[in-house]
Amino acid sequence: MRKSGWLILLAVGALVAGQAFGAGDPAAGKAKTAACAGCHGADGHPPKGTKYPTLAGRDPAELVAAMKEYKEGKRKDPTMQMMMKPLSDQDMENIAAYFASQK
Ligand code: HEC
Repeated sequence: MRKSGWLILLAVGALVAGQAFGAGDPAAGKAKTAACAGCHGADGHPPKGTKYPTLAGRDPAELVAAMKEYKEGKRKDPTMQMMMKPLSDQDMENIAAYFASQK
């Protein structure tokens, strides 16, 4: 009983630490990528013959930075700026973790 209490505390601690480091949750991210798939592909590989950027296997920090720049208007692309509008920082971390984890 006492031992399991400590285990739960440890697990909660690990969760909180994970969030503090901004670690994205790929599964939660994937759920938000339906709207991106048309251009970037469901797994981050854009359809052949299009010139949309590949997101699969990229550095997640780089993807998050790009997404924030669209949202803040530092990078100007009307479509991407509109796509990023409803996303929170956590959504972006999660989405980046998902695409980064694809080959
Ligand atoms: C209608 C097409 C379209 C949709 C839908 C779309 N994107 Fe994009 N995305 C683009 C284009 C075009 C660019 C490159 C724009 C530019 O030149 O800055 C881009 C750029 C990006 C970049 C920067 C890539 C780089 O190499 O710098 C990221 C990250 C990204 N998109 C993520 C997303 C996510 C996440 C979604 C879904 C929430 C999404 N996009 C939906 C067309 C789209």
